[in-house]
Amino acid sequence: MVIKKVCCIGAGYVGGPTCSVIAWKCPDIQVTVVDKSELRIKQWNSEKLPIYEPGLDKVVKECKGRNLFFSTDIDSAIKEADLIFISVNTPTKTYGIGKGRAADLKYVEACARKIAEVAENNKIVVEKSTVPVRAAESITHILSANRKLNVSFQVLSNPEFLAEGTAVDNLLNPDRVLIGGEESPEGDAAVAELSWIYGHWVEAEKIITTNTWSSELSKLASNAFLAQRVSSINAISALCEATGADVSEVASAVGQDSRIGSKFLQASVGFGGSCFQKDLLNLVYIAECVNLPEVANYWQQVTDMNVYQRTRFSKRIVECLFNTVTDKTLAVFGFAFKKNTGDTRESPAIYVCSHLLEEGARLNIFDPKVEPKQIEQDLTSADVTSDPERVLNLVNIYSDPYEAVKDAHAIAVLTEWDEFKTYNYEKMLSIMKKPAFIFDGRKILDHQALIKMGFHTETIGKRFSRNALQRASGEHFPAFSWTP
Ligand code: UDX
Ligand code: ADP
Repeated sequence: MVIKKVCCIGAGYVGGPTCSVIAWKCPDIQVTVVDKSELRIKQWNSEKLPIYEPGLDKVVKECKGRNLFFSTDIDSAIKEADLIFISVNTPTKTYGIGKGRAADLKYVEACARKIAEVAENNKIVVEKSTVPVRAAESITHILSANRKLNVSFQVLSNPEFLAEGTAVDNLLNPDRVLIGGEESPEGDAAVAELSWIYGHWVEAEKIITTNTWSSELSKLASNAFLAQRVSSINAISALCEATGADVSEVASAVGQDSRIGSKFLQASVGFGGSCFQKDLLNLVYIAECVNLPEVANYWQQVTDMNVYQRTRFSKRIVECLFNTVTDKTLAVFGFAFKKNTGDTRESPAIYVCSHLLEEGARLNIFDPKVEPKQIEQDLTSADVTSDPERVLNLVNIYSDPYEAVKDAHAIAVLTEWDEFKTYNYEKMLSIMKKPAFIFDGRKILDHQALIKMGFHTETIGKRFSRNALQRASGEHFPAFSWTP
């Protein structure tokens, strides 16, 4: 088989960028991305794409209408395709067995059933969505139980390793492409076909082939290891605050050991995003299901530490503001789960803001990319409040950071947007209530400069002594309680 047509079911954060880059790098292949959501497809077909990814606009513009198409006609795209990516969402289950931990595979299953129903010739089906180990087995089972006569399927696992904000770069220059397949001549042939697609731009040594289960588990393990590094440095950050060490210095010293490496050691208010939490919980659930409670407990700690870190940060804000934020105004800089994305899924900002709102704070929120509607939706969801009306009364969303800080008691930086480093904080200080506080949950600001200006400055993994604060600003700081 020579792959001429590819279909991707799911035009989301994964399917959209992945298939746009495939279309860009493989002009000999026709790529059709389908979705059941008419709105999503309409957005992909418009000038303003539904997701923000640096470099994506250019890629889509070049290929759309040439060999890249977005459509809601799922049946036709499946029928015509030689290879089908399943890139639908696999959220954490919110009901029934495994609630709150297991991945919900209902959308993946729906795709498998649809493929079996409409396919009229042999297809390679590629599981791109993150799934539990052995999900390919279930997909294969559904496909073969429902297929038409003389139609056969090969199911491959090809997990994505895209980080938001750098998805296009990750696709163009991947550390590795992982392809798992059945250990049989047919499986090998299917793996070779998919490798051929990536071979258009990825060096052969970077295309790793494994058995299906290893591929599925590698995806979960990779995200668990990355999340574990963030939780490890965040655990050390709490120790730093209690002992006088500086977590940036510790991270730098630790990271210079080439066996450890320097990446993912940036202490923060906590990790967010659609993958880390979900994949960790999924791993925990799988370990429990195969009766490995020690393994489950080990990985559970990584997510527990993350909850501890963001709770610790919001408690610190309240404590520093003289143990009450009721009716105080706090400017929140950043709501996305990290910079260069408009995505807020599992963003630590949701939890820190909810905590502060519970304490009665008024929040003036500014984020350069997140839509106001999204912020409102996140803060009023049933997961974080039982009183959405009260929340909406306490929240104001701004499009100008200087407006957001007017008459505020404090600024809390919750996302590491580069532009936050460039603001005129002297000017901000002049229009804030005094004493003015700044809580840098991402360690991106020039703390010494802020202290000198007169900000009471707090950050993750480092304590500025009260003497230093007073010396630098020449001002008297009222006592505040601090429990290390
Ligand atoms: C992640 C994985 O990196 C990617 O390979 C996978 O396929 C999807 O999940 P993503 O969620 O987009 O990607 O973001 P990532 O850059 O990994 O950051 C995750 C979270 O950890 C963010 O909230 C980020 O701010 C936080 N983080 C990351 C830290 O707090 N400190 C760090 O040192 C690194
Ligand atoms: P991810 O981050 O995994 O890409 P998203 O939620 O961004 O997840 O995107 C998943 C997309 O899959 C959504 O746009 C959703 O409408 C689509 N989808 C889910 N189930 C189906 C289905 N059965 N058929 C077609 N599209 C689907």
